[in-house]
Amino acid sequence: MEKLNETFVTEFILLGITNLPQLQVVLFVTFLMFYLLSFFGNLSILTAVIADHGLHTPMYFLLCNLSFLDFFYATTTVPKMLSGLLLEDKKISFQACIVQLHIFHFLGSTEAMLLTSMSYDRYVAICNPLRYHVLMARAMCIQLALTSWLVGFLYSLSHTILTSRLPFCNMNKITHFYCDIKPLLKLACTDTHINESLVNIVTGTVALGTFILIIISYIFIATHLQNISSEQGRSKAFSTCTSHLTVVLLYYGTAFCTYLRPATKDSLEQDRMTAVLFTVITPALNPIIYALRNKDVKRALRKLLLNGQYIKQLY
Ligand SMILES: *[C@@H]1O[C@H](CO)[C@@H](O)[C@H](O)[C@H]1NC(C)=O
Repeated sequence: MEKLNETFVTEFILLGITNLPQLQVVLFVTFLMFYLLSFFGNLSILTAVIADHGLHTPMYFLLCNLSFLDFFYATTTVPKMLSGLLLEDKKISFQACIVQLHIFHFLGSTEAMLLTSMSYDRYVAICNPLRYHVLMARAMCIQLALTSWLVGFLYSLSHTILTSRLPFCNMNKITHFYCDIKPLLKLACTDTHINESLVNIVTGTVALGTFILIIISYIFIATHLQNISSEQGRSKAFSTCTSHLTVVLLYYGTAFCTYLRPATKDSLEQDRMTAVLFTVITPALNPIIYALRNKDVKRALRKLLLNGQYIKQLY
């Protein structure tokens, strides 16, 4: 006889961000706008940096990596969430769910490490300007970028393997708008305390570790700036840090709110809300922060637009 309580799950239902039908259109339009903003914003930064030889420096290559990453980061979750809001298409296969979880954590943790690499770059540029070209040579820069992507991938792989091996039976409704670890652990029909502790330990180590490295870089930078006597020199040196610092605070603020809390029923509800911040809003804000606060990026974007017009006139 078939035992009903042992049917294994082959697809999940993503319950989405809200079950209030009157909110769905408003949310759809808002999130679509943010998605388009992040799509075109990151694409513009990528093209501007690649097209402008004045921006071929370690700092902008790393910024380019960040835009490249944000471009895909939003694409991992937002289109699926939008189709869930509009078309009520909430199903996702088991495999797709695991792939989404993997890519999401891969890009998310790589972002933390790229931000750390960028803070090292700023530390060298400000505290050790004469040796900047030696310390941040092309090979070093590529190494930093490659290590970020590789470590991010392996970190995420550990979560992916652990989560995909859990047994899922009967329950397949995920209280979230994308496949994340904690909501999946809640559905597994086995004791997941060890998994939960591992997630907290591993995620906490990566998040806190990179955050502490960034703080250390900025302590060195701040100490160094104190020794610069002219107000002008100080603010000029610091102006190259403000965009980076803003992006760092945005990223870690939202990540700590979501991941460094125990997964109770209420916290999962709140997680959905804070998750909107870093899946939808942050990838759209990063290019804006860099474009608005950074004169060089603004100049490169203007040049790109003018060139675009120039090319149009040719035809
Ligand atoms: C990422 O950074 C590396 C190191 O500077 C650079 O060589 C590479 O072109 C960048 N990739 C992207 C997609 O921005």
